[in-house]
Amino acid sequence: FGPAWDHREVPSTLARSPFLLAARGEPGPHTPVWFMRQAGRSLPEYRAVREGTTMLESCMRPDLVVEITLQPVRRYGVDAAIFYSDIVTPLKATGFGVEIKPGVGPVVADPIRDLAGVDAVRPVTPADVPYITESVQELVTRLGETPLIGFAGAPFTVASYLVEGGPSKDHAKTKALMHSDPKLWHALADRLADVAIAYLTVQVEAGASAIQLFDSWAGGLSPRDYERFVQPHSAKVFEALSAYDVPKIHFGVNTGELLGLMSAAGADVVGADWRVPLDEAVRRIGGKPVQGNLDPALLHAGWEVLEAEIDRILVEGQAAPGHIFNLGHGVPPDADPEVLNRIVKHVQTKSARAAA
Ligand code: CP3
Repeated sequence: FGPAWDHREVPSTLARSPFLLAARGEPGPHTPVWFMRQAGRSLPEYRAVREGTTMLESCMRPDLVVEITLQPVRRYGVDAAIFYSDIVTPLKATGFGVEIKPGVGPVVADPIRDLAGVDAVRPVTPADVPYITESVQELVTRLGETPLIGFAGAPFTVASYLVEGGPSKDHAKTKALMHSDPKLWHALADRLADVAIAYLTVQVEAGASAIQLFDSWAGGLSPRDYERFVQPHSAKVFEALSAYDVPKIHFGVNTGELLGLMSAAGADVVGADWRVPLDEAVRRIGGKPVQGNLDPALLHAGWEVLEAEIDRILVEGQAAPGHIFNLGHGVPPDADPEVLNRIVKHVQTKSARAAA
């Protein structure tokens, strides 16, 4: 598993954590592992602290944000924490009419239909979100050598909720809008790029070590539409964040045909779901560090199946200058924490580099 690594020589620090080394394409002591949606309903301790608070209320309470972000780090010893928040938190923080319906997802009161609708969307200022700054600062102190990943929703994925009014399978209204009124579409996507930039900047300024831009639903687009309607706006976000020395991860589901374009948008690390073998994903993203790509459905397939899949993914991941092990999408609410724990331990031991 990669070049030899001398554990004794390099003091373990945040900058030399397995996650940040892999994200920079440098060899490290083992393949780092974390899970998208590692904090959440699969954890009994999450369900306990969330009782009586709505999702978006909980995102505004530093005591809860810190506790929930730390829960999976404590339980699994994952190599990175992801900030507990949501892709619609920065909109909610400016008074935009959005809620998260349990079991459904973000729901918008007045779906966007015109330029007046776009004007209701505005980026946060640090003064809008003191609780984000406070939560990140406290987390960075508590996490020590474990990196904190900040995140935002990419313009397309957030726009899909704002245009459809809620979750949708085919994003038909959003796609129709792009083609029928490109001017309105670009105004909305450009505004949402500013929303992501402002939100990520607050998290990075407060001490986040890396950022992930979630374009979860971009895989529904053709490469031609992605390139014309989406890539320039995501590229604007990455370009703005290049002012900071933090690795930038880009991820979407079902993006096999888009991996090259998503990489070219300016990501340092590209996430892939399970539909593309990881070595093939590495080829498509141009040899950058890669993140992924265990199928979450296999969490229920039994350990023998899982172990074989993990080992295959670890081998395929060696095609990249750095591999961050993850699921191909988020942890499902019915996942067994014991299984996730076993995956973390297995990835970390199996991939451990021999001492030089
Ligand atoms: O552990 C983590 O990953 C950190 C926190 C996180 C959440 N949402 C918390 C959350 C992150 C990174 C997100 C991002 C997010 N939110 C995305 C992109 C990632 C992805 O999954 O593709 C999207 C598309 C959303 C929108 C959203 N928010 C959805 C689809 C849902 C789930 C609805 C449901 O109940 O199934 C939410 C709610 C949400 N966000 C929960 C959590 C822990 C569940 C809230 C609850 O406890 O009911």
